Amino acid sequence: LVLAGRERDLAGRRVVISAGGTREAIDPVRYIGNRSSGLQGYALARTAVARGAEVTLVAANVALPDPAGVTVLRVESALELRAAVFEAAARADAVVMAAAVADFRPAERSGSKIKKTSAGPEPIRLTENPDILAELCERRRQGGEPAPEVIAGFAAETDDVLANGRAKLARKGCDLLVVNQVGEGLAFGTPDNAAVVLVADGEPVEVPRAPKEVLADVVWDLVVPRLS
Ligand code: CTP
Ligand code: CA
Repeated sequence: LVLAGRERDLAGRRVVISAGGTREAIDPVRYIGNRSSGLQGYALARTAVARGAEVTLVAANVALPDPAGVTVLRVESALELRAAVFEAAARADAVVMAAAVADFRPAERSGSKIKKTSAGPEPIRLTENPDILAELCERRRQGGEPAPEVIAGFAAETDDVLANGRAKLARKGCDLLVVNQVGEGLAFGTPDNAAVVLVADGEPVEVPRAPKEVLADVVWDLVVPRLS
């Protein structure tokens, strides 16, 4: 198989991709999670390897086999994902945050299983997780480390998808933001995706419904010219 014009254009580049969805422990048997399958992140990893990149995949709770030729770091929570991404990003040219990171985690994790009582359930108090993508962009902006040349994020939006995406791109300070059009049976657990890729320094690129590899290759097409 030959990818015309694209083959090996990531040769010698190190990329870090996060995939899947974090789980935030409530007690030893329960967690707060989300529906991310990891398929888009794995498609990014496979296409990057095919284009010659050295790939580290930080996988959160993904039921998929390790892609060939990829270093896979398995994590569970947002805090673990943050640690793994920051460590790998120190040597990376590009970071793509495809993982669905829980915005909140239980403020306390119960050491023992929470039991039913006649008093009824206790509320679960939540605390905010760090915004890994925003933190990565902010450190680079301040001239700190790590400082990958390209930082990309993903966002699932409803309502005014483009306006929400634009605002998020600016707020996070990243270079690319892939905005998924949620609904219509797309995004979670399906092999297809449809998206608009917003670019901090250019025009948006629309990707009509297609296999997740197609969107992944469009992301790398936008990453490659932004690498020195
Ligand atoms: N992200 C992250 N750390 C978080 C939350 C999100 O790194 N704590 C990353 C995701 O991996 C994704 C991007 O930020 O690449 C956008 O995630 P999203 O949930 O859409 O952004 P939020 O800022 O959490 O906004 P919202 O309130 O819409 O959930
Ligand atoms: Ca969020």
